[in-house]
Amino acid sequence: MITVDPSSASISGSDGKHKIVDHSGGKNEYIVSPQNCVVFTRRTCLKNSESKDFVREMERLGYVMINSLDTMEICEDKFVTYKKLKAANISTPQTVVISSSSMNKLDEKVQSIGGRFPIVAKILEGTQGSGVMIFESMMSLKSSLQAIFTLVPKADILLQEKINSDCDYRIHVLYNGFDRVSGVDNYKVIGCMQRNVMEGDFRSNFSLGATAEKGHLTPELERISKQAAYAVKGRWVGVDVIMDSGTKQCYVLEINSSPGTKGITTAAGDDVVGEIFGMIKNDFSSKEMPCVIETVEPGKKVCVKTYIGEWENRTFREVGMDKWRLF
Ligand SMILES: Nc1ncnc2c1ncn2[C@@H]1O[C@H](COP(=O)(O)OP(=O)(O)O)[C@@H](O)[C@H]1O
Ligand SMILES: [Mg+2]
Repeated sequence: MITVDPSSASISGSDGKHKIVDHSGGKNEYIVSPQNCVVFTRRTCLKNSESKDFVREMERLGYVMINSLDTMEICEDKFVTYKKLKAANISTPQTVVISSSSMNKLDEKVQSIGGRFPIVAKILEGTQGSGVMIFESMMSLKSSLQAIFTLVPKADILLQEKINSDCDYRIHVLYNGFDRVSGVDNYKVIGCMQRNVMEGDFRSNFSLGATAEKGHLTPELERISKQAAYAVKGRWVGVDVIMDSGTKQCYVLEINSSPGTKGITTAAGDDVVGEIFGMIKNDFSSKEMPCVIETVEPGKKVCVKTYIGEWENRTFREVGMDKWRLF
């Protein structure tokens, strides 16, 4: 596996062979080809234009990106994700966006998502539960929004109906194969973790300390998570789904383009990393030395891991690949 800092790397070359030069932590050069390479992008690629440029260039040259810039950008913004889900007819909580200039329409907006408190509010690009709030009354919602818009006049805030449940599900969905993402049927669920709402909170993020366990993957959870992955053309995504404890209706809350692997591996016991590398191994037609590139947060110190051994002579297990975490 090669780890590159996308903000200080460049790629050039022709005839299907390219050279990556990464200037972070000294100068490192790698010869790669779309035929034997898979690129794992992390959402931190979106942090600056140099990183996005590098990823875009790799896409243009025909590399398989897990995930593409498009997918990452859709997942990064909860309102864009909401629009995509709506357009694909996928059930998601009723949602509106509000900004300082539309505060005079607050009452209508609240009505348009059902008008019932509590209401959930979110900043568009929050992750790991921070940026998700709950409001019990119009009075607290209005005054808090006014404070937020005073601090950050250009902020956009999502208002969302609250779904009643004491847990939600993080479902890892993988696209099987490296062809162009087409159709829901090529997706496979490789992990399902139930995350329990924390005591004294309404959120269930593992990173905030929520307890988690293996989730029971119902046909409906499987269907909706695959549909959500396809709606954003993700190759490997973590779909957050909440099921209303009364009606049993499932709703997609968000789609994560850089899902963490720790929680699902330790708490749910799902070997998502093994599944992903198993797929890579099965699907590579090339007999050349395969190569996995991982991007890191721009500016972060880069460690060069290693190339994976030859396909024919060494297995993933032998090179210790099955024990690797992605990050
Ligand atoms: N509409 C909602 N109804 C009920 N709970 C919600 C709702 N939206 C979010 N939550 C809770 O908050 C958590 C975090 O929300 P999410 O939209 O996944 O943002 P983040 O990107 O911060 O994880 C969810 O896992 C869920 O437990
Ligand atoms: Mg989430």
